[in-house]
Amino acid sequence: MTDTDTIDWHDFWATADEDDRADAGPSAHHATDVVVDFLEETGVPEAFADVGCGPGHVAFDVAERYPETDVVGYDAAEPVLADNRQRARDRGVENLRFDRTVLPEFDADRRFGVVFSYFTLCYVADVERALQTMYDAVAPGGYLVFNYQNRLARAHWQRMADNPDEFLGENSQFDADRFEDRFRLLLDGENLLSYERIHDALGTWPQSVWSVVERPDTRWAWRHHPLVYVPK
Ligand SMILES: C[S@@+](CC[C@H](N)C(=O)[O-])C[C@H]1O[C@@H](n2cnc3c(N)ncnc32)[C@H](O)[C@@H]1O
Repeated sequence: MTDTDTIDWHDFWATADEDDRADAGPSAHHATDVVVDFLEETGVPEAFADVGCGPGHVAFDVAERYPETDVVGYDAAEPVLADNRQRARDRGVENLRFDRTVLPEFDADRRFGVVFSYFTLCYVADVERALQTMYDAVAPGGYLVFNYQNRLARAHWQRMADNPDEFLGENSQFDADRFEDRFRLLLDGENLLSYERIHDALGTWPQSVWSVVERPDTRWAWRHHPLVYVPK
């Protein structure tokens, strides 16, 4: 099970309409290009994992661009995995598969040159264990690449929770009644991450993806949600 106190992802994906799918797939707009740039700079890996892949935007993009790379998209919610498998079959993408895993455990049957996770850790209790199990699945010489919510994000989320009329109206992608529960782990500080906490969990300092990738147009977006890599 996922942490259903935050959001029941199985139910979410089983009933998601097109808007829901877009809202819960932020990597489509924010991450796919950056990931490609990162791979071009650091070397295209033999195997790539997208953990908490949702609709699998990054997984599909990497698999279709790099047919020699084995790509696995992991998620806790079976309905979205089933959709993704069907789409991969329809598109004839042969180097891509989708498996279920529920962080903080990560049941990978192999190691990956890159393990990537985007906008997922904020929903995962025992975030240090999740970082460790994902890092364990990185092959020597590879990278764990992920984004996380820092104290600026937490302050902003708290402001939203305190002022639902201003921030969580009709046009918001979030349900005002469920917002505090959904982001409880972050608002409580339980899975609030920092460079220090990541270093303490993994024994290696994270580094900003922006030290490798030059994208001044989108870099601003990561002030609240740093995008980092941890080399192995
Ligand atoms: C906000 S969506 C992000 C999807 C995708 N990474 C993106 O950015 O487009 C979060 C995803 O994490 C998955 N998820 C939530 N808790 C999880 C857990 N404990 N283990 C694995 N996946 C989880 C959800 O099912 C959902 O697909």
